[in-house]
Amino acid sequence: MKSSLTFFATIVAISVLLFSVVPTNACEQSCRTGISLAFGDNYSKEVDKLFPTLEDNVKDNCLKGFSGSVSSSTKSSFNKIIEDETDKCKKAFTDNFAKLIEDSIFNQVPQFKGQCQHPLRVNQPPAGVAWTMEDCENQDYICGNPPAVCHYMDQYVKPRNVKNVNESLKDRLSSNGSCFSSLVRSLIIAAAKSNIKASDLGSFAQTIEDNIEAQFNDFIKYFGDEFCKGTTCDKYDHDIKVKLLSYP
Ligand SMILES: *[C@@H]1O[C@H](CO)[C@@H](O)[C@H](O)[C@H]1NC(C)=O
Ligand SMILES: *[C@@H]1O[C@H](CO)[C@@H](O)[C@H](O)[C@H]1NC(C)=O
Ligand SMILES: *[C@@H]1O[C@H](CO)[C@@H](O)[C@H](O)[C@H]1NC(C)=O
Repeated sequence: MKSSLTFFATIVAISVLLFSVVPTNACEQSCRTGISLAFGDNYSKEVDKLFPTLEDNVKDNCLKGFSGSVSSSTKSSFNKIIEDETDKCKKAFTDNFAKLIEDSIFNQVPQFKGQCQHPLRVNQPPAGVAWTMEDCENQDYICGNPPAVCHYMDQYVKPRNVKNVNESLKDRLSSNGSCFSSLVRSLIIAAAKSNIKASDLGSFAQTIEDNIEAQFNDFIKYFGDEFCKGTTCDKYDHDIKVKLLSYP
């Protein structure tokens, strides 16, 4: 009895020892969050540059083809709603970037996870010391450490982030998406309270739905073509790599 207990205790002790000496050598949660926030902060600046086009185009075109009469004060209340709703849409979109990018880098395939010891390309720096750009160059296969994410930035990480941001916008702006339904609903409520004739409200709703759908679809295309186009987002690479390499 005593000896089997001892045996059991020994196994437990060995397991604890084994698991505690296996180097972590992976982008841990703080690293995942940090790198995702760094991408998110920088990429949302690019979104800020594109959204005014959406706002202007919706303002200019949402009543196109509507035959009822709309007073200028009603028209300006619509413009205010369009401003508020596109801001709200942009905010919800960019507020979700860190989560989206974390998923893009760490959950999608090929995943940046797993041991980096086979073979060992880089030595983990002591606590508090950052990985180097040389480590970034040397970690030439995919695994879970920060240098691997850094090494594959151009090949996998950036294109995947851009693609996922692109798709997230499409989800929000499509005619079953959150931004679309919220804008249409707000305009219809405002119209019902305005001096637009009650008998015109049905065609009003149809007109703005069609026009907004067309403008949103154009913007999805425009955004896909313009967001981080060519070398536009390369200016963030250095900051993002430095941030990434600062995690153990
Ligand atoms: C990227 O974002 C960080 C904040 O996370 C900021 O300090 C840095 O200046 C940004 N880089 C560029 C090139 O704007
Ligand atoms: C983004 O979306 C647009 C249209 O929706 C598409 O043409 C483009 O190839 C996409 N870009 C990426 C990087 O996925
Ligand atoms: C929303 O509509 C698009 C096509 O416009 C479709 O591909 C997508 O599956 C729809 N999403 C939902 C949640 O219904």
